[in-house]
Amino acid sequence: MSDPAPNPVVAPDHVHALLNHLHQESLTQEAALPSTYLSSPDGFDELMQDKFIALDQDKCQFVYQLARATGARNIVEIGTSFGVSTIYLALAVGSNLGRLGGEGIVIATEKEPTKAEKARQHWREAGDDLVTRHIDLREGDLLETLRDNIPQVDLVLLDIWAPVALPALKLLEPKLGSGAVVIIDNSITSATRYKELLGHLRSPTSGYTNLTIPYSKGLEMCVKI
Ligand SMILES: C[S@@+](CC[C@H](N)C(=O)[O-])C[C@H]1O[C@@H](n2cnc3c(N)ncnc32)[C@H](O)[C@@H]1O
Repeated sequence: MSDPAPNPVVAPDHVHALLNHLHQESLTQEAALPSTYLSSPDGFDELMQDKFIALDQDKCQFVYQLARATGARNIVEIGTSFGVSTIYLALAVGSNLGRLGGEGIVIATEKEPTKAEKARQHWREAGDDLVTRHIDLREGDLLETLRDNIPQVDLVLLDIWAPVALPALKLLEPKLGSGAVVIIDNSITSATRYKELLGHLRSPTSGYTNLTIPYSKGLEMCVKI
């Protein structure tokens, strides 16, 4: 039997157990969704109200590893849901601050109050000191909640419904310095839905270098230069 794939995430056993459990719940829910759910606007918000739609576990581990490698202090998560990917981001920021000193935060965003509450519950389960204290959850429409009090941003995780994606990025762009990284989930399978966003990022005048990483459904890594 081959060895299991290495996991870069440094965390106590109970956090790994929690993450494994949450990813499993998310996958089980997604498997039960109709395959056309992303392109069915009717009743979409209602259908999504109790769904995780968490970023895949291998992608979460990649984003954690990237955040540690780059020493990211300030991260914005566009789309938080039940807070699964946020746990990885908070663990990475906590480690970076411990190593590098200074201040930093994960700005999380969720418009559904019931999802925000469940996210807070998951973060408490992971540990207030380890996770919750590194998160500033902005509850409400992120096109409003991200208008003010944004520090210089090192990393953006864009994991959101397509219509909000480009307006959200544009709100943050004044805060993205050289070397800032933008990650977009599902950049292969949602290329049509993300046409405007990817068109913007790949335009020669926008100032990004772009890479499609061949994870399942694609993961775009864009670096502001
Ligand atoms: C794909 S899920 C995020 C999954 C999360 N990153 C994870 O890995 O667990 C996208 C979330 O964005 C939220 N959302 C959609 N539009 C939003 C908006 N305008 N403002 C804030 N949140 C929004 C949805 O309610 C949904 O929970």
